[in-house]
Amino acid sequence: MIMEKILKIQMDAVLENQGLARALAAAYVSEMDPTVDELTEIKTAVSEAFSNAVIHGYPGDMQGSVYMEFAVVSPANVMIKITDHGVGIEDIAKAMEPLFTTDTGDERSGMGFTVMESFTDRIKVDSRPGEGTTVTMIKKLDTYYDF
Ligand SMILES: Nc1ncnc2c1ncn2[C@@H]1O[C@H](COP(=O)(O)OP(=O)(O)OP(=O)(O)O)[C@@H](O)[C@H]1O
Ligand SMILES: [Mg+2]
Repeated sequence: MIMEKILKIQMDAVLENQGLARALAAAYVSEMDPTVDELTEIKTAVSEAFSNAVIHGYPGDMQGSVYMEFAVVSPANVMIKITDHGVGIEDIAKAMEPLFTTDTGDERSGMGFTVMESFTDRIKVDSRPGEGTTVTMIKKLDTYYDF
């Protein structure tokens, strides 16, 4: 896969950084001349992956980083990877089912992966218990980006 304009970011895994994660995604993708809807969808998908990394990847007092990687993979496709080196996911297929959540309170609805799936064109989740999780998303933009 040919990748251009790669941007790699490391951020502290705290929810205070969620807005910054969204803004960085928006700034990167803005170069590709997205529609307003595409921009909103990308920001929302990144938000969900970022908050999952913080909340589920590093539960309780566990500290760590969230890594974001952006790349243009073809003239109209952007690839976004969100990685944590946290606890990992035992059963990925189950975690991705709509409404599935391991949250015991009533704060989470179990819809994060479903939102990521519906707002992007491809999503792949790689995870190993004890090692962490990488969510890779590809979004096709209705544009021709000349790189
Ligand atoms: N980065 C991650 N590390 C470890 N577990 C994860 C990670 N991301 C998701 N999970 C697991 O997958 C489940 C489903 O995630 P999803 O985002 O769909 O729902 P949620 O985060 O529980 O709720 P919501 O996103 O609606 O607030 C989570 O409850 C958690 O168990
Ligand atoms: Mg979630």
